[in-house]
Amino acid sequence: MRKGKRLVLGVLALALPAGCSRAGAGSPEGATLFATYCSRCHGLEGKGGLSTDAGSAPRNFRDPSFHKGRTDADLRATIEGGRGTVMPPFRGLLQPAQLDALVQHLRSLDPGRSSR
Ligand code: HEC
Repeated sequence: MRKGKRLVLGVLALALPAGCSRAGAGSPEGATLFATYCSRCHGLEGKGGLSTDAGSAPRNFRDPSFHKGRTDADLRATIEGGRGTVMPPFRGLLQPAQLDALVQHLRSLDPGRSSR
């Protein structure tokens, strides 16, 4: 009986920190994922550093009008399916929670965010 209770507490202690790191806008996880998978084209700041031969430059995620025109679902669909001829699809490579973290990270780059 006592042993069982202690086991449950132990499992909770392990599960809680993992859950917390996923919560919140612009989580560290989102920033890390962005640096790993996206920054080589979009730049660490998300301004879109790369100009591509294909002609379509990455978007500027620091531009408020970029965010106004797109829903979270739009952003997520772009990450999953890729975009144009240059941006690869990340479907299958990233977990759903990682896609959410990336969407939150993109939103956290919007300078107009706090005023809305
Ligand atoms: C190989 C270069 C490359 C990589 C890596 C890349 N992107 Fe892109 N991305 C682009 C280019 C180029 C565009 C503009 C394409 C177009 O609209 O024709 C773009 C567009 C976008 C857009 C805007 C789509 C829209 O609505 O206009 C989003 C959002 C985006 N990328 C997110 C990401 C995220 C998040 C990652 C990392 C998981 C990522 N990208 C990785 C090159 C890249």
